[in-house]
Amino acid sequence: MGISGNGDELQRLVKNGYDSMWIHPGQVNKAVVYEKMARLPTIEKELAPAKRIVNIQEVGAAFTKYLYEGEITDSCVKMAEKLSDSLVACISEDPTCIKEITGLAHHDLYTYLHSIRVSAYATAIAIKVGITDQAHLRLIALGGVFHDVGKSAVPLNVINKQGPLLETEWTIMRNHPTAGLERTKDSLLHHITREIIIHHHERLNGSGYPHGLEKNSILPEVQIATMADIFDALTSSRSYQNKRTRYEALDFIKHRLLRSDVGVDVYKGLIECLAG
Ligand SMILES: [Fe+2]
Ligand SMILES: [Fe+2]
Repeated sequence: MGISGNGDELQRLVKNGYDSMWIHPGQVNKAVVYEKMARLPTIEKELAPAKRIVNIQEVGAAFTKYLYEGEITDSCVKMAEKLSDSLVACISEDPTCIKEITGLAHHDLYTYLHSIRVSAYATAIAIKVGITDQAHLRLIALGGVFHDVGKSAVPLNVINKQGPLLETEWTIMRNHPTAGLERTKDSLLHHITREIIIHHHERLNGSGYPHGLEKNSILPEVQIATMADIFDALTSSRSYQNKRTRYEALDFIKHRLLRSDVGVDVYKGLIECLAG
């Protein structure tokens, strides 16, 4: 069978146990992605939010791993949308369920788990600051899933480095938003999701990268994702910093980053989710 047939058909074949088929040489990457997407475990929708969010995180980490390793195809974006919809439904039901995932991090899986956690935190904050439209929330959740996808271009020895990075290594690291946008430029991602990819390291006072944007030029959805990203970085164990408890992280943000880096509204939104 040629892979130019439709994706659902191929996924059915894989699920039905066909283990060999002919694929056009130019479509091999896409076929590999289809096959991997079809093999991902499914999310158990009947679980209560507190348990479901952990399940989504596991499935999401496996998915994000593929995202980093392979090509970003339409089947990838569809899977990311499914995942985001599950997150939005789960967190809309109970925003405080994000407490169940705080701080879970295994070093090797850090980046994959990080993306899903940022997605979950951003969705929860968005709900708390008044975004209720599910399609809008989905774009923010998708932003979390894809925000660091440009890190696939950063060598592992830089990502996992113990101790501070050299200036040359920072230069590579700081390029990941631009690299992420480049990797997703042919996909069907919405403008808001793309803005999260390219601008999640911007800061309200203009000290961020890659463009040094100031508050009024940073979309509210991006500011939400940035808050989520910072909170997860502070509460996860990483090679170049010690993990903080969620209270220590909130305290750190309040005294060191509030108003200069992140806005009061998104900070309050985060607190409400964690205190609820
Ligand atoms: Fe990032
Ligand atoms: Fe991040």
